[in-house]
Amino acid sequence: MGLGKGVTAEVIEPALDQPPRQVPRHVAIIMDGNGRWAAARHLPRVAGHRAGAQAVRRTIEAAINKQISWLTLYAFSSENWQRPEDEISDLTGLLRHYLRHEVAELHRERVRLRAIGDRARFGPDITRELADAEALTAGNTRLNLTVALSYGGRSEIVAAARAVAEAARAQKLDPATLTEATFSSFLFTAGMPDPDLVIRTSGERRVSNFLLWQAAYAEYLFPEVLWPDFSATHFDSALADYGTRDRRYGTRSEP
Ligand code: FPP
Repeated sequence: MGLGKGVTAEVIEPALDQPPRQVPRHVAIIMDGNGRWAAARHLPRVAGHRAGAQAVRRTIEAAINKQISWLTLYAFSSENWQRPEDEISDLTGLLRHYLRHEVAELHRERVRLRAIGDRARFGPDITRELADAEALTAGNTRLNLTVALSYGGRSEIVAAARAVAEAARAQKLDPATLTEATFSSFLFTAGMPDPDLVIRTSGERRVSNFLLWQAAYAEYLFPEVLWPDFSATHFDSALADYGTRDRRYGTRSEP
């Protein structure tokens, strides 16, 4: 594809202009380990997801306390639709409950909520509640909380490529001038900064189709803790670890 010369420089230059960032602007989390947490306690998987929802609350609070501006949580992947129906129903039930009972509190805390992913798959009621929550909290600036729901990085990129092709066909966009920044504006995350730090809990070391484009230069951290046990202390240690990372964006540390 004709992404053209200069595209690489466009991405690297801003990083070269800045000193290494010690505090991440954007933290993204793959919340993994709910099932293992429940199994270790001889509880049904739903108990793990419920405890996971408590960890979501704690993490939002920790992010606010640490003045993190952007927090993105992977709550439901496009692959999660392949789980048994009762688990899908438990997860969608939790999401519905969360939207009905927690959005007012998020708004009080001046959190802006956004959802990325194929939200229509959750049906009209959740789709509408998500839109209402986004509209209610649109003016908030303390924490930008993004929840990835029915989200898959590859399908997001394919949808963006399709939209670019359609814009080109309609002669609204010249393919020869397409840049990474223009392409990014066709993603769900248009207007959001890229994640600086991606955390995956439970010791699994996989990216699992999460923010594939956006995390190109992110630092990754794979703590062993299962998501329901994730606490403010784990969050703080992750920030401390990030603070030691030397982000080079493909450049050298020495001249
Ligand atoms: C991964 O654990 C977690 C999920 C698939 C769902 C994440 C959902 C929550 C944290 C709760 C609901 C969130 C909101 C925003 C209301 P797993 O089931 O894959 O665990 P395992 O790998 O140990 O089996």
